[in-house]
Amino acid sequence: MMQGPGSAVSLLTALVGADVISNEPQQIARFASDHRGLYRGQALAVARPRKLAEISKILGFCNQHRLAVVPAAGNTSYCGGATPDASGTQLVVSLERMNTVRRVLPLDYCIEVEAGCILQNVQTAATAAERFFPLAIGAQGSCQIGGNLATNAGGLNVLRYGMMRDLVLGLEVVLADGRVLSHLSTLRKDNTGYDLKSLFLGSEGTLGIISAATLKLFPLPRVRATALAQVANPAAAVELLALMREASGDRVSSFELIPGVALDLVSKYMSDISAPFAVPAPWQVLVEWSSSQPREPLETALTAALQAAAERGLLQDAALAQNETQRAAFWRLRENIPTAQQRAGASLKHDISVPISQLAAFIERGAALAAQLAPEGFLVAYGHVGDGNLHFNVSQKAAADRSEFLTRAPALQRALHDCVAELGGSFSAEHGIGQLKVEELARYSAPHELELMRAVKQLLDPNGIMNPGKVLKPRG
Ligand code: MLT
Ligand code: ZN
Repeated sequence: MMQGPGSAVSLLTALVGADVISNEPQQIARFASDHRGLYRGQALAVARPRKLAEISKILGFCNQHRLAVVPAAGNTSYCGGATPDASGTQLVVSLERMNTVRRVLPLDYCIEVEAGCILQNVQTAATAAERFFPLAIGAQGSCQIGGNLATNAGGLNVLRYGMMRDLVLGLEVVLADGRVLSHLSTLRKDNTGYDLKSLFLGSEGTLGIISAATLKLFPLPRVRATALAQVANPAAAVELLALMREASGDRVSSFELIPGVALDLVSKYMSDISAPFAVPAPWQVLVEWSSSQPREPLETALTAALQAAAERGLLQDAALAQNETQRAAFWRLRENIPTAQQRAGASLKHDISVPISQLAAFIERGAALAAQLAPEGFLVAYGHVGDGNLHFNVSQKAAADRSEFLTRAPALQRALHDCVAELGGSFSAEHGIGQLKVEELARYSAPHELELMRAVKQLLDPNGIMNPGKVLKPRG
């Protein structure tokens, strides 16, 4: 019989061992807030299982005793998806110790990994087998595959390879009651009923805990051509993308929009990084082509495509990376935009997507809304144009008052998200829902869609123990 939270910790410890369950303050502190510092919570204890059977026992116990569980990974969520509430009654379950690459199957072009693997280690294991795992995000040195799966992570190569959901062949999941759904398939074709694994991808720990996955691999890119081009405007960027997909035989792997203001922020706040242009244009794109055929003349082809685009008035200037160091420097410019923006002060973030054909229209309308509704800020709109996904962020002006600026957030968010909805887009393109966008999901989903989501939640987690308060708004 459980007498209270203290007794839950003792019983859990008796069940899986003191090595797995800890309520030491330094362990609890590690999971007390999200990396943006938007949320603070206090866990009852932290479970760090080493094997599947332990996760299973822990969830079975929690389900029986109605103990809320917050699955945690690398803590790089932008939406507070892995932060416990402040009640001190929730158990954080971190899979950081389950970090084995179980097997690489080069002929099957897949890799089987445990959920606690750091993304970069998965990339490295694939490369060691002369294969490529394409998920690439700024946090790849610390984020974990389990988090990438649970949030359906996106990043820099989605245009060519898809989001995390597209990279999964099989999953091993511990259900809320402790039963295990083991489907670590290596099959490309398997039409046997409902695709249950898809339910867990992007469910942000609200339906079960993903413990392992079989992921798709690809031929290793052996040659790359990378350029930073100053484009006439966002509409020209979109046209350039279409042109490049055709000219390259669909070898464009990344196509990122970078405004001049973002380059200014990076040079100002990160003294060791500088742009190749003396004066950034209002808009640049970072474009990369890649091929697994080492002798393919990608640089020549990219140069010709840039030349053709310049003749059509789509771009003014372009710098082609001459070597790997320059290529890395171009990517550092892009990847450090969020950090530079953070250093510049408060920022109102909007992770939106619209059909690519509507991007320029959205930027124009969104910029006017930002100027009108957040006059203490300036627009820093950048991101994955190839996926129709922009980080439509507004940074605080240096002289502005932080708290006054922050009061603008709700009205600006509403106006921008309404505009996105009108254009057939999404208010959360790649960062998920977490706690931050629970209201938005409720607002922008059709009532019957929400009902279906609630029905799935009720079916898989009838006691509501899995990451409560995330994704779906509690009924009230
Ligand atoms: C990025 O693309 O850099 C990330 O998704 C982070 C961000 O929203 O700023
Ligand atoms: Zn992004």
